[in-house]
Amino acid sequence: MASSQVQIVQTRAFEDQKPGTSGLRKPVDTFQQKGYAENFIQAIHTAVPELSDGMAVVGGDGRYYMTDVVQKIIGISAANGVKKLIVGKDGIFSTPAISAVVRKTKANGAFILTASHNPGGPKGDFGIKFNSSNGGPAVEAVTGQIYQISKHITEYKICPDIKVDISKVGCHTFDVDGRQFEVEVIDPVSDYVDLMKELFDFESIRNLLAGSKTRSPLKIIINCLNGVTGPYAKRILCDELGAPESSVVNCIPLEDFGGKLHPDPNLTYASDLVDVMNSGVHDFGAAFDGDGDRNMILGKNGFFVTPSDSVSVIGDNYKAIPYFVKSGIKGFARSMPTGRALDRVAKALNVEMFEVPTGWKFFGNLMDAGRLSLCGEESFGTGSDHIREKDGIWACLAWLAILAYRKASVEDVIRDHWKRYGRTFFQRYDYEQVPAEGAKEMMSVLESSLSLATKSKEISAASASFVLEYTDNFSYTDPIDGSVAKNQGIRLQFTNGSRIIFRLSGTGSVGATVRIYFECYEDQPERFDDDITSIMKPLVDLALKVSDLQKYTGRNEPTVIT
Ligand code: G6P
Ligand code: ZN
Repeated sequence: MASSQVQIVQTRAFEDQKPGTSGLRKPVDTFQQKGYAENFIQAIHTAVPELSDGMAVVGGDGRYYMTDVVQKIIGISAANGVKKLIVGKDGIFSTPAISAVVRKTKANGAFILTASHNPGGPKGDFGIKFNSSNGGPAVEAVTGQIYQISKHITEYKICPDIKVDISKVGCHTFDVDGRQFEVEVIDPVSDYVDLMKELFDFESIRNLLAGSKTRSPLKIIINCLNGVTGPYAKRILCDELGAPESSVVNCIPLEDFGGKLHPDPNLTYASDLVDVMNSGVHDFGAAFDGDGDRNMILGKNGFFVTPSDSVSVIGDNYKAIPYFVKSGIKGFARSMPTGRALDRVAKALNVEMFEVPTGWKFFGNLMDAGRLSLCGEESFGTGSDHIREKDGIWACLAWLAILAYRKASVEDVIRDHWKRYGRTFFQRYDYEQVPAEGAKEMMSVLESSLSLATKSKEISAASASFVLEYTDNFSYTDPIDGSVAKNQGIRLQFTNGSRIIFRLSGTGSVGATVRIYFECYEDQPERFDDDITSIMKPLVDLALKVSDLQKYTGRNEPTVIT
């Protein structure tokens, strides 16, 4: 057993280590500053004393700089008294797989090295996110403490000579000042595959993909955007479920995601998948983000399933998923800006429905308390209480399970859903990397001007007028621990059921990103196929007018529409 000694290194604190919606995300060169990553890792250890004498899981989405940070975490964890680290081979671990392993091994937490869907490579972003012992992102009380510690840190502890070969599965033990420290490098895929087999009926999905005498095989195409999901998709869809090798593409995790702008599964950044699906050869398509927690689902000829529809269809068809049948549906939830299609299903099934702020961490307490089974967000996140993260591969399997159960196409399943519940139209406009000051000012002016608006006030833009039912800045009180999250987005709810929501993103790394969410509801079947741009136009005009967005951001057009 190699022995090692703890070294105490003097460091200077950084002011900017406040975790956002999902961990600390910054450009790679920010993380490469002397002591930057070390400080943040030490701050986590100081804020979470259970790690000392405990166990943690480490891995990430394969982006540039990840393996350097894995070694830093190993050295700092050894010095802070951690007993054991479980590390994914090559440092690879999808975010949902880490959550599964934390839960299975009863670890005290996890270091997830990802900036999710943000670009990677030397000029891209890096990120460190800490997850707690329930397998989910640390709640704000913990991330707030990490931030406070990071602002005043003066030294960190490290065992600089502990370096572990993470390219091979195996165990490494060290003697650190008389204590034993172990690093186990594991295959990051196996535990996750076992879990999926428990949740789904693989046999029925295998039959769906293979086809039968009376039904042709279901042709699928899965685009992993060179993020972390490649090895998971290959193992599950090809090896276990029999899909041809050619049905999983861009499946090698690359440090810069193959130079893609964003490894983000939406109609803009996953346009390759959209193009392939538009050609009409495949029946089902899916894409995932860099760390594998987001998903986009498409049907034949590029039929797009909005995330808000996706989660509500899964809820409505829960009987297709053996895990839900066995455990029962305890409740549904969505983030506040997410289209409210799921609320209608909750009502029909008579299950509890929660509306939480943006950020998967807000679902964790409800799941731990046994009140939430299925949830989703408009930002292409869908998941259940099998883990405490959203789960891209899980969503893909859920859809395949539904297609097998319903013996129908993606489009037919969605159309049937609209027929029964009406259609919730949803669109999001993003104005990325605008000057932070202008964005903040826009939000505060908007909030104060709206706070003067009274119920029943009519507001109009060029193309239409709406009657305001209420307006507020969303505030959430967690029903389990009573914690309060304020300023989670300015809402304008109109009497005809439409909504506009303004929010500043918490995941960007440069400037600010303004998000405007539009939603309207239609129960007239003859309008289900109306063009979404013209449906939304009155709301868009109104939003631009009330916010004066152009003046504050200097932008005429959104960067991305999803
Ligand atoms: C991450 C979180 C999600 C959240 C999303 C968008 O993916 O895990 O829960 O919805 O970021 O956050 P943003 O603050 O950028 O809108
Ligand atoms: Zn992600």
